[in-house]
Amino acid sequence: MAPMLDCRQVALDAELDDSTQQTLAEVARAASNLGAAVLMQHYGRLSSIESKGRVGDLVTNADVAAEKVVLDYLREHTPTISILAEESGSSGTPGSLCWCVDPLDGTTNFAHGYPFFATSVGLIWKGKPLLGSVAVPFLNETYWCSPNQGSFVNDAPIQVSDCSSLQDSLLVTGFAYDRHERIDNNYAEFCWLTHRCRGVRRGGAAAVDLAFVATGRLDGYWERGLAPWDLAAGAALVACAGGCVGDYKDSAFAVQEGRILATSPGLHLPLKQELSRVTALEPKLYGV
Ligand code: IPD
Ligand code: CA
Ligand code: CA
Repeated sequence: MAPMLDCRQVALDAELDDSTQQTLAEVARAASNLGAAVLMQHYGRLSSIESKGRVGDLVTNADVAAEKVVLDYLREHTPTISILAEESGSSGTPGSLCWCVDPLDGTTNFAHGYPFFATSVGLIWKGKPLLGSVAVPFLNETYWCSPNQGSFVNDAPIQVSDCSSLQDSLLVTGFAYDRHERIDNNYAEFCWLTHRCRGVRRGGAAAVDLAFVATGRLDGYWERGLAPWDLAAGAALVACAGGCVGDYKDSAFAVQEGRILATSPGLHLPLKQELSRVTALEPKLYGV
C-alpha cells in the first residue's frame, strides 16, 4: 500500500512548529476569503470572458482581479514564500515552500452563473500539500486546515465520512480540459463507477469537490489532468480531516502528477481496485 499524504509528517519534515503552522493557515484562510469576496463582486456581472485556447478553458476579469488581491496579501504577509498562481505563473524566490493559488476554481460554472466555485490557496512543501484554505462564497463556507489543528469549515471541525462500502458511496469526479485530445479522458472511469455506487457528481470545481470530501458530504473523489493550484489546498483538507489522499496506483501523492484519489479511509482500496480495472473507451463510442 502506498504511503498516504500525511500533512503532520510534511510539517515535521519542513520543520514548522505549531505556531508557524497556525499562522500560515490563518494567512491562507484570509487570502482565500479576500479572493472569494472579489469573485462575488463580479458574479453575474462579468465584463470579459476569454478562451485560453483549449475548449472550455476560460479566463474572466474576475479570475484576474481575485488573483491580484490574493497575491498582494500573500506577498505582504509571507514575503519569503514563493507563489505559483494559475493566471500569473511563478513568482518570488524559489524555495521548498510554495503557495499554490487558484483565484477562481470553477471558472466555467462562474461564467454561466452556476454558483459552485471557490478561491483556493494551498501551501506545499517540496511538492507535498501541507495546509490551505478553500473559500466557497456562495455557501458562506471557508474550508481550511493545518496539520496541528485538523480541518474546519468556518470555525467548526470537520471529518471525512465513515463510508467503506462502494455501493453505498456518493462520489465526485471531473474532466480535464485536455479530454478532447486524450483517450485517457476519464469517461470510462465515470461509467464504471457510476455503475457501482449511489452516484457520481461532477461539481466543476476540484477544490470544492475535495472540500466536500473533507466534510463528509461526499465519500470519494478521483480525477486526472489537474494542476497544483487545483489540488494543493483540497488535498491537505482531506488529509487533515482524516481522509486518504494518494494517486490511482501505489506512488506517493505529489501535486505535479495531477492525478488524485481522495477518499474516506475505508473506500480508498476498493476505489483504487476499481480504477485499476477500467479500460479507456473507444472514441467511436462517444462519436469520434
Ligand atoms: C477546473 C475545475 C474542474 C476540473 C478541471 C479544472 P478551473 O479548474 O477544477 O472541476 O475538472 O480539471 O481545471 O479551470 O475552473 O480553475
Ligand atoms: Ca482550477
Ligand atoms: Ca481557475
